Amino acid sequence: MSKITAAITAVGGYVPEYVLTNQVLETMVDTNDEWITSRTGIKERRILKEKDQGTSFMAIKAAQQLLEKSGTDPKEIDMIIMATATPDMLVAATGVYVATQIGAVNAFSYDLLAACSGFLFGMSTAARYIESGRYKKVLLIGADKMSSIVDYEDRATCIIFGDGAGAVLFEPNLDGYGLQDEYLRSDGNGRDHLKIDAGGSILPASAETIANKQHYVFQDGKTVFKFAVSNMADVSEKIMKRNGLNGNDVAWLVPHQANKRIIDATARRMNLDDSKVMMTIERYGNTTSGTLPLCLFDYEKQLKKGDKLVFASFGGGFTWGAIYLTWAYDS
Ligand code: UT7
Repeated sequence: MSKITAAITAVGGYVPEYVLTNQVLETMVDTNDEWITSRTGIKERRILKEKDQGTSFMAIKAAQQLLEKSGTDPKEIDMIIMATATPDMLVAATGVYVATQIGAVNAFSYDLLAACSGFLFGMSTAARYIESGRYKKVLLIGADKMSSIVDYEDRATCIIFGDGAGAVLFEPNLDGYGLQDEYLRSDGNGRDHLKIDAGGSILPASAETIANKQHYVFQDGKTVFKFAVSNMADVSEKIMKRNGLNGNDVAWLVPHQANKRIIDATARRMNLDDSKVMMTIERYGNTTSGTLPLCLFDYEKQLKKGDKLVFASFGGGFTWGAIYLTWAYDS
């Protein structure tokens, strides 16, 4: 019997309607369009303004779009992995709610938290379930409402992040398409450089933590940048070497969208032409778990069966890695 590989067979995405431009941010904090554009590559980001709605709102939209586009019956979905750093609420997993709302009544679900690498690590998890032969349709969603944890008085973070969601369906493939190799890493020494101090089990919410603004995301940008730029390039180069790939072989780099300079450095190390690099940062900013599936969502029409894709990410924790996947269908 042929070996089962885990292939992506459908893609969906959703970004909120409200566009927060650099020009509007100029009126909120001491910053300017030139600084943001030259340091990050970001021009605008989307913000979820719907009242009383969280990450699940966007995840449901992305999943429903995928189901509709691919003609998939939600009852056939076996499991849903929900990558997010901004769950609707703690304890009750967001993925469980999403599964129920989209009618995936035969699925089980849970959340996966690995900051900006959540979706990448989720690809590895989804692939293992498929490769086991036990599960046939695994929906992986990456979604974050970063605006719910960003301090819009802190110019070091509010210019970077945005809200958005993307989803992919993994199914078994017997012709060898799909996830080929992965190199995933983490290092807990990095946790003080990108974190939310309060609201967890070390420092539960109190009047003091709110007054001290400890429920907002904190980032020591310079340090994170230094680690991100070298590690994302390292793992991407490593996975190419291990699979005998050169810059000509790779059709697309699908990079986490944290900073255009980090993406450019990774592409240079891979000897990749700019035209092979998926780039959405200008319009969406950093949507954390949403960046990789939103890249696929935006570029799906250009993907061809057999294309060799390298996914790469770096995020809080620290967490980072690269995945080599061959595309399984012509759009
Ligand atoms: O997705 C998870 C992983 N995250 C990342 O990979 C993000 C990694 N870090 C970065 O992308 C960059 O470090 C930032 C975009 C966050 C910051 O860019 P930077 O080039 O590292 O700037 P910096 O923090 O070194 O700051 C340079 C200067 C400082 O002023 P002085 O001290 O030189 O006078 C900052 O105060 O720029 C100032 N600055 C700003 N100026 C205008 C910081 N933020 C802003 C701002 N507008 N928004």
